[in-house]
Amino acid sequence: MYNTKAYSAGSATSPFAPTVISRRDPTEHDVQIEILFCGICHSDLHTVRNEWSDLMRTVYPCIPGHEIVGRVTKVGSAVSKFKPGGIGAVGCMVDSDGTCPECHAGFEQFCPNMVLTYNSPDKHLGGVTYGGYSDSIVVDERFVLRVPSNLDLAGAAPLLCAGITTYSPMRRWGVTRDKKVGVVGLGGLGHMGVKFAHALGAHVVVFTTSPHKKEDALRLGADEVVVSRHADAMQKHASSFDFILDAVSADHDINAYLQLLRRDGNLTLVGAPAKPLAVAAFGLLLGRRSLSGSLIGGIRETQEMLDFCGAHNMTTDVEVIPIQKVNEACERLLKSDVKYRFSIDMASLKSE
Ligand SMILES: NC(=O)c1ccc[n+]([C@@H]2O[C@H](COP(=O)([O-])OP(=O)(O)OC[C@H]3O[C@@H](n4cnc5c(N)ncnc54)[C@H](OP(=O)(O)O)[C@@H]3O)[C@@H](O)[C@H]2O)c1
Ligand SMILES: [Zn+2]
Ligand SMILES: [Zn+2]
Repeated sequence: MYNTKAYSAGSATSPFAPTVISRRDPTEHDVQIEILFCGICHSDLHTVRNEWSDLMRTVYPCIPGHEIVGRVTKVGSAVSKFKPGGIGAVGCMVDSDGTCPECHAGFEQFCPNMVLTYNSPDKHLGGVTYGGYSDSIVVDERFVLRVPSNLDLAGAAPLLCAGITTYSPMRRWGVTRDKKVGVVGLGGLGHMGVKFAHALGAHVVVFTTSPHKKEDALRLGADEVVVSRHADAMQKHASSFDFILDAVSADHDINAYLQLLRRDGNLTLVGAPAKPLAVAAFGLLLGRRSLSGSLIGGIRETQEMLDFCGAHNMTTDVEVIPIQKVNEACERLLKSDVKYRFSIDMASLKSE
């Protein structure tokens, strides 16, 4: 074991504070990474505030962070994909059994023995796993991704969650040229949804509660922007969408969006509000519409997404911050005040 610096939250209401944690020495299949950038996902906030306690209780101290890019510092003897000095990336998962039907199908995110990057039982050290708000991490090579060399690393880090979570359902539901696609909520996930839908050739409409985000939405690739509080503007799009991606982090009325789907259209939820959402039956019955969910993406598809971003020279729009500003950043994220992802420059942790 070795020690590394990190920022942790001691309870659901405590701010983040500096700490020192232990990481395992790399085993033969492990890659040790010096973390250069880590994005701040709204899931970090839900977890730190224990908002998903019905599904998974948060264990404290909690060290979130699952949008990790860094420099490889050491590799185990059996590692073939990475060498010291190269760049490696880690997303929401650090392990799975590798043997079940989900793993064989490339859906590690649904493996019954999947280990999340943070707040999952740590089978090596006991306790729970600790995420990327830290200086260094050790991860099985199967869960380390390659970052195309043309991508800016601060902007690439959030692709590991915000990127794959929006890319995967768009591929699954056939977002292509000439499809009409809606994206609800212009945050970290939403703005990547806009970029992917645009890159895939769709006609993209952004639904936002923040009128001041309109210019940005158009710049990011939206063809139209609707302020969702304006009922008339919403009504103009009734029964017209092939696909809508809902990336809202808080309670909201999804029926307002279901009625915008055309026959056989689909609304996929990726946002994960703490409370259940109400669904009006006729919103689905009329037009044979469907409502579904999607959880990040498997490792193979995550690499495909990174390569897609490399080919299209795409990254997330980031505000790079030192880790000392993490509490302020979380306050701003709660107010939907970020353009459009915070990426922590982990060099700031070295100076502590
Ligand atoms: N399914 C998965 O695998 C997965 C992966 C990662 C994250 N998530 C979840 O996805 C959600 C979004 O994450 P994120 O990191 O993109 O968060 P974020 O950056 O905070 O964006 C959320 C956006 O939702 C909108 N919003 C916020 N409060 C709202 C309210 N009360 N009513 C209506 N709209 C509201 C805002 O957009 P406007 O200002 O444009 O309205 C905001 O920018 C979170 O719940 C997160 O846990 C799920
Ligand atoms: Zn995330
Ligand atoms: Zn499995």
